[in-house]
Amino acid sequence: MKHAKLFTERNFTVGDVDKRLYGSFIEHLGRAVYEGIYQPEQAAADEEGFRRDVINLVRELDVPVVRYPGGNFVSGYNWEDGIGPKASRPARAELAWRMTEPNTFGLDEFVSWCRKAASSPMMAVNLGTRGIDDARNILEYCNLAKGTYYSDLRIKNGQAQPHDIKLWCLGNEMDGPWQIGRKTAYEYGRLASETSRVMKMLDPSIETVACGSSGWGMPTFGEWESKVLAECYDEVDYLSLHQYYGNPENNTPEFLANNIAMDRFIKEVVALCDAEKAKKRSKKHIYLSFDEWNVWYHSRGQDRKLEQWGKAPHQLEDIYNFEDALLVGSMLITLLQNADRVKIACLAQLVNVIAPIMTSDTGAWKQTIFYPFAYTSKYGRGKVLQSVLDAPSYETESLGAVPVLDAVPVFNEEDETLTMFVVNKDLNDDVTLNCDLRQFDGYKVLEHKQLTHADLKAVNTEASPQTVSPSDGGQSSVENGRLTAELKKASWNMIRLGKA
Ligand code: AHR
Repeated sequence: MKHAKLFTERNFTVGDVDKRLYGSFIEHLGRAVYEGIYQPEQAAADEEGFRRDVINLVRELDVPVVRYPGGNFVSGYNWEDGIGPKASRPARAELAWRMTEPNTFGLDEFVSWCRKAASSPMMAVNLGTRGIDDARNILEYCNLAKGTYYSDLRIKNGQAQPHDIKLWCLGNEMDGPWQIGRKTAYEYGRLASETSRVMKMLDPSIETVACGSSGWGMPTFGEWESKVLAECYDEVDYLSLHQYYGNPENNTPEFLANNIAMDRFIKEVVALCDAEKAKKRSKKHIYLSFDEWNVWYHSRGQDRKLEQWGKAPHQLEDIYNFEDALLVGSMLITLLQNADRVKIACLAQLVNVIAPIMTSDTGAWKQTIFYPFAYTSKYGRGKVLQSVLDAPSYETESLGAVPVLDAVPVFNEEDETLTMFVVNKDLNDDVTLNCDLRQFDGYKVLEHKQLTHADLKAVNTEASPQTVSPSDGGQSSVENGRLTAELKKASWNMIRLGKA
């Protein structure tokens, strides 16, 4: 048994949790749209062809924003292909993922699906093959009430009310050599600046996200951020970060340390934004949108064998195991710990494609990563409290010494609950965590949920959907204002405290 201490202070906060920290992502890719959220012929489909079983699970995840329609897909997408009567929509050869896009689901369907899923769209515009003109047209279609060509076209298409979409991504991963219409940092910075400026001329209430590097490991990381921000700092509101992690070498301690790398990535992007702020003597902060994050590696081998130009192929279908859920829990803790600057984050993606929800023709079920996301999204709202953790550590090759625990306290002023999210990465030892809670007079443990499993590689399937699922058996208590929590080896924990 190991021991750790967490010191926290009720009046010192990191920042308010922006609910958009619990966003997700639907791309026209694999079976995310078709067979994922939209499958008219399936038994659970509603009158619009949306799968009710999936909508119910998305509501359980409580996802306030969903990024759409890509991803790499958006850089070759003509949004007009996906509006109007379905019979006249063209099928296209989709170059990003080399599949056939039937366009039977598009912008209007997505907005309607978001409403049913209790979410809202975070729309991306195509800055690969298209540009400013296309961006202002789609915005006019979505947000202007009536009386112009595109707003009237929306009304003609049966959408009387404006979609009123507030959040817009200026392209996707424009630094990536794989990106359709990729740009140099200068080219992209100028285009992002002008596109954002023109879009805000049309609707000043929107916010825009410029593309940062498509990963921390990109050779141009840092230089890209600086050059892009040099051009568009005054016109945009957020800079994006994307990162996926994997365990191809089957080195679990190393794999579980990846949220520490994520933390460094965030801190470095904050530094790059603030350096630009200083150079420009600006009063404005650029906030971060971590709009693609997850584990992604299980499906890479089989995806290399996929036939081209298929329709809704099984692509990027990672089957997540228990250790993936631990890292996802830790990444959520890292995002919360940076809540002062990270205002938006999107778990990539939502259904079937590197996703917490899987579907077949007969049903929908929760992958292992569903659980830490669902509980953090539900209870990780309010103010993140500052805290200092004193915990044993272990050595990693890539990051040096890494603490065996990740922990973050979140205080919800509305119902006066304090929720601690804690991951114990130690594969051999349980850890006893102590925390002085004398500032939380009369607080007791309301519940201690834990996710544990003897097999790090255990997965959920349609036939066995509950193999990895949380239990209420966590041992923790408060005595004389001090919390003692028993954290099982390799476990994700949520300890909720209140006045009972
Ligand atoms: O989420 C899958 C892909 O990963 C996205 O399309 C792209 O933006 C990223 O490289």
